[in-house]
Amino acid sequence: MKPRVFSGVQPSGDLHIGNYLGALKHWVKIQDEYECIFGIVDLHAITVYQDPAQLRNKIEELAALFLAVGIDPQRSSIIVQSSIPAHAELAWMLTCVTPVGWLTRMTQYKSKAAAQETVGDGLLQYPVLMAADILLYQAQVVPVGDDQVQHIELTRDIAQRFNHLYGETFVMPETRLPVVGARIMGLDNPEAKMSKSTPGSHHAVALLDPPDVIRQKIMRATTDSKPAVDFDDLGPGVRNLLTIFQAFAEWSDEQMRAHFTGMRYSELKKQVADMVIACLEPIQKRYHEIRNEPGYVTQVLRQGAERVTPIANATIRLVKERMGLYTGF
Ligand code: TRP
Repeated sequence: MKPRVFSGVQPSGDLHIGNYLGALKHWVKIQDEYECIFGIVDLHAITVYQDPAQLRNKIEELAALFLAVGIDPQRSSIIVQSSIPAHAELAWMLTCVTPVGWLTRMTQYKSKAAAQETVGDGLLQYPVLMAADILLYQAQVVPVGDDQVQHIELTRDIAQRFNHLYGETFVMPETRLPVVGARIMGLDNPEAKMSKSTPGSHHAVALLDPPDVIRQKIMRATTDSKPAVDFDDLGPGVRNLLTIFQAFAEWSDEQMRAHFTGMRYSELKKQVADMVIACLEPIQKRYHEIRNEPGYVTQVLRQGAERVTPIANATIRLVKERMGLYTGF
């Protein structure tokens, strides 16, 4: 049996090249080696207010983007979290074994809560729902970025506590895959990771940005005061542009050095923009084809739900039995 992978993306903000190079591109490659479930985690998105019409559209957009980058619905399951009630159900059961202190300590909770006037309980429960996503499918591997590692550790703590209280029930998930994706930084600030939730028109290149917008964003990217590329002394902005190029082009370090050493920044930026535009073009083309095919995305999401529901139901059944909840019929 192949090890099972679960990972999730919130249908909020615009998916960008950092998401693609750091995660999605690798998910596409591991589909034969692992049994993959990729979740569009809309219940997580609503922990902060989302405009309903926009959210509905984002869910379909994200599903179409998963397909457009090469997630194959025959091999992998693409699911919408809210279409499988077991996620919310298991989250409640896990909530009941989770000390509040474990949740108030989470760094993401602290920073998100600080930005809100009133802090919804959902924000506090966010990592418990995430633990439910993972434990529901007994996923062994959970590929996530550094910012989510604390949540995976919490998932393990919750699983361990449940197993201790009620008997061996959950598989312990591992944080990482053997391959880790490129870490792409913001174009406007190369000291901070490129993020869907960071505002600013020149922070990230979205996967659906038109070519002229991509070029403009990359030409305006922050570099440094040196004139040309010096591999022995790379500033963070130039390093980031080279990382983006290398990740898209899949060039070796030697190729990168031979090609870019001594290149002026304006020429570097032009070549990075050309590469990004060329690599996103087929993805954007497929995306539009998918969205123009009536009913296709819905069918993929239904198929995903149908495929994973037996796994989810088996876990819920087991958890109910362990906890003494009603399983009479
Ligand atoms: N919290 C994750 C993020 O913002 C998204 C997520 C939700 C997730 N459930 C998950 C990731 C389960 C991995 C596994 O990136």
